[in-house]
Amino acid sequence: MSKPIIVSGMRSTGKLHLGHYLGVIQNWVELQHKYNSFFFVADWHALTTKYDKTEELRQDVLEVVMDWLASGLDPDTSTIYVQSHVPEIAELNIYLGMVTPQNWVERDPTLKDMAKILRTKEGQNSQISYGLMGYPVLMSADIMMMNADAVPVGADQVAHIEITRDIARRFNNIYNTEFFHEPKPLLNKCSLICGLDGNKMGKSFQNDIKISDTEEITAKKVMTAITDRSRLRKTDLGHPDECEVAFKYWQIFGNCEEIAQTRQDCESGTRGCADCKRMLGAKINERLAEIRERRRYYETHPDEVKDIISNGDKKARERASEIIKQVRELVRMY
Ligand code: TRP
Ligand code: SF4
Repeated sequence: MSKPIIVSGMRSTGKLHLGHYLGVIQNWVELQHKYNSFFFVADWHALTTKYDKTEELRQDVLEVVMDWLASGLDPDTSTIYVQSHVPEIAELNIYLGMVTPQNWVERDPTLKDMAKILRTKEGQNSQISYGLMGYPVLMSADIMMMNADAVPVGADQVAHIEITRDIARRFNNIYNTEFFHEPKPLLNKCSLICGLDGNKMGKSFQNDIKISDTEEITAKKVMTAITDRSRLRKTDLGHPDECEVAFKYWQIFGNCEEIAQTRQDCESGTRGCADCKRMLGAKINERLAEIRERRRYYETHPDEVKDIISNGDKKARERASEIIKQVRELVRMY
């Protein structure tokens, strides 16, 4: 019996941070053995908002793949590829676009959020491109290209998967077939990590810790993490539950004993916040040591990374060409 298929992707935003690692990649690493897994870098999706800033796009793709490999995605187990290297996706995107009612994409809540962010960044008059409107259809093409059974994503992407299911069902209805599966979202069970300032961790908010940051930079960044704002001196009794960021990080990176000890030292006023964050920084570095070592290996062996990608591209295209052949038959485009 063959394993069910999962597909997931990330936009090529450059070096990834701990939010990506804890929230998504760790989950993929666990799932990759249970499923026939396809993971790709969505460089076309990156283009929907960065079409005028493409200088770094190629390097960004490599950075993402290096972070994945460092985090434990195994290229012998998973198929790791680049979206734009599989042109069949673009063709499927056309067919799916034809069967997708315009109001399905217009009411996509994730797209609405993206439009809002774009307007705050680039002014009220910024136009949403036709390509950005097509974001959920292209995402459906990514997923349906492998005729996936499930899509491991964070909660913010679930609305998109709902559209994919609707599109798959509609395609099947229109062409009188049961060819496409209706892929289910596989919600990550991983912990959400906030940024150093207590807001959502994000590259553009400059509140993130990168997988690829050095130990020194990590330690320095951790020193800026928000703590219990009411605590001014080391001897003030602290309130871990009101420690907005540092204690939350302890709960992610420490073991039970360390978390309990931190709570005790904080509440009794025997550990100052600076000391506490120094210990925390060391803890985070310890947890990431192996990943970072692997990343340095790939950084110094870029040809190996490129080989991994072209092997993945080839495997992805093998599957994609079978699927697109059948789709052409169904749509009568031959
Ligand atoms: N929209 C996803 C994100 O922003 C990336 C993505 C593109 C994706 N295509 C996909 C995720 C297909 C899952 C499946 O992270
Ligand atoms: Fe937070 Fe640690 Fe300071 Fe307590 S001692 S407030 S847990 S940083």
